[in-house]
Amino acid sequence: MQNSVIASAPSNIALIKYMGKVDTVYNRPTNISLSYTLEHLRTTVQLTATAETTVATAATTDIWQPLSGPDFFAFTMTEKGQEKFKRHFQFLKKHFGYEGSVRIKSANNFPADAGIASSASSFAALTLAAQKFFLKHNPSAADLNLEKLSELSRLGSGSSCRSFFAPWAMWKKDQAEKLNLPEKYNQLLHLVIVPETTPKKISSSQAHQLVTTSRLFPGRPERAEARYQQLVQAFQDHNWKRAYQITWDEFMDMHEMFRACPEPFDYRTKGSLQILKQLQEIWSSQNDGPLVTMDAGSSVHLLFRADQKPLAETLKKDFQSQFQVWGQL
Ligand code: DP6
Repeated sequence: MQNSVIASAPSNIALIKYMGKVDTVYNRPTNISLSYTLEHLRTTVQLTATAETTVATAATTDIWQPLSGPDFFAFTMTEKGQEKFKRHFQFLKKHFGYEGSVRIKSANNFPADAGIASSASSFAALTLAAQKFFLKHNPSAADLNLEKLSELSRLGSGSSCRSFFAPWAMWKKDQAEKLNLPEKYNQLLHLVIVPETTPKKISSSQAHQLVTTSRLFPGRPERAEARYQQLVQAFQDHNWKRAYQITWDEFMDMHEMFRACPEPFDYRTKGSLQILKQLQEIWSSQNDGPLVTMDAGSSVHLLFRADQKPLAETLKKDFQSQFQVWGQL
């Protein structure tokens, strides 16, 4: 048995959002989603075998610790986060028939308060590391292709299943896969503007549950499917402005659903709304701009075409005077 393995995986940002589950155990989504993989924002997971234990005790003897190193930002996982992470690892252990206990170390190459959800990259990296780790013990682990690994990872955290495919991933029902879009959109630039660095009150997993109570939830799968088709068509037509409009309507749809719950909640803060307004003004004055989206949080994500680098640099500077901005251009 190899004593220690390491693997890393990227984050992704959804333009058509996974929001709502038909099955909370297997993280089966209510609707189709589409994401762009953020190769530069990654989680690294290291797994090290500790003492051999029995199946009965293995569940309680795995431990999580932050991974340290020059490439990583200081990172602490909440108790709840650690539990979810370890639970997924224990599922993987069972799947591969491994009974020993393991030290799981992980870290991100982006700061914890950067407004970037690390759940997709963390669970994808954990699943990839687990495959490597179990390989010696169970040679059948070698047979797992990306589709199968993505499926296993989804059971830990839904959005992680899209991180196995790049640059674009589509996820429907049980399966995520690579989506081919015109070459021109394969190397987008990404910025995230962070108006709030305090942790959010409602996790995305909670939002998945609450959203089903929204009076706007009925018809959501159809709306997401229609936008997915329209967005793919817009990219195929090289119609960036149309892609921006669809992407905008889509994240607003998700946030409006939250607001239309019997107990309404809203991730959009004063800062987010100000950022959104500024972006709308750029689009209306220049008839061009970035794709804009927000996840279940207050941060605003921007995607630029490669030829928009000067605009991305200007916006980065402008927003940096008021907010924290993260992203490599
Ligand atoms: C708003 O994948 O974090 O970012 O499956 O419960 O772990 P769990 O949820 P998670 O949900 C992400 C939701 C989202 C939209 C998206 O990424 O598609």
